[in-house]
Amino acid sequence: MMAAQENILQVKGVTKRFGGLIAVNNVTFDLPRGQILGLIGPNGAGKTTLFNVINGVYAPTEGHVIFKGTDISGWQPYDVVKLGLARTHQIVRPLNDLTVLENVMAGACYGHEHHSLKEAQGIADEVLGFVNLSERRDMLAGSLNVAQKKRLEMARALASRPYLLLLDEVLAGLNPTEIAEMVQVVLKIREQGVTILIIEHVMHALMNVSDRVIVLDYGQLIAEGSPEEIANDPKVIEAYLGDPDLAKRLMENADGD
Ligand SMILES: Nc1ncnc2c1ncn2[C@@H]1O[C@H](COP(=O)(O)OP(=O)(O)O)[C@@H](O)[C@H]1O
Ligand SMILES: [Mg+2]
Repeated sequence: MMAAQENILQVKGVTKRFGGLIAVNNVTFDLPRGQILGLIGPNGAGKTTLFNVINGVYAPTEGHVIFKGTDISGWQPYDVVKLGLARTHQIVRPLNDLTVLENVMAGACYGHEHHSLKEAQGIADEVLGFVNLSERRDMLAGSLNVAQKKRLEMARALASRPYLLLLDEVLAGLNPTEIAEMVQVVLKIREQGVTILIIEHVMHALMNVSDRVIVLDYGQLIAEGSPEEIANDPKVIEAYLGDPDLAKRLMENADGD
């Protein structure tokens, strides 16, 4: 039995520089197994870069990423996913000339288990059902609309059978009905025991699904707490003042629930 509070992910003093720009600045946080942790912050705050450091697209300039007790700093994404850490991309990029099924099979083969093509197809069909895309399985990925492409992206990540899933703005560009459906998928993934770190600008949805929220601003972690604490944190509201629309939505949520 795993201890309830075991940290599946520990980010320790992570800094990522691009030349003179410090995109992520000495960020430290823990993610307990089974939680949904929301990651918010204004555009350019370093959220996607932090994901890229966690899943190995970039090595950290300084600091360490510990996943399931293993220091994976500087590992390649291909090796990180085999350990059970998968992610979606803010800009979805399916293989448009392959079918939906083939796209997800590729995700299964990339994952941490070794599969025959037949096994990969079984997993792909299962996760396509999970994200409600079974009807589209034999269509070309290029023919999907935005909401369907986001669900395909999630299916590809899930096909690798992750213990930890990083979701980068999976609700962006969706209409309210599609957002509600996607939130249900996210909650269902967590029910299966997958831990989730989610970047999101759709504040109301994020505040509803997250157990805890961390806030990045200019690469630095400026706040950490429950959704309610974050929505009422003056530092957070100030960080969003450069983006009045986001600040307004944050405060609307604080008034709401
Ligand atoms: N590959 C890169 N090379 C140089 N600068 C980058 C690169 N990736 C991101 N940045 C810069 O790092 C900062 C953080 O970007 P990003 O992580 O995409 O922010 P967010 O996801 O919070 O909007 C931005 O100033 C961005 O321009
Ligand atoms: Mg981003």
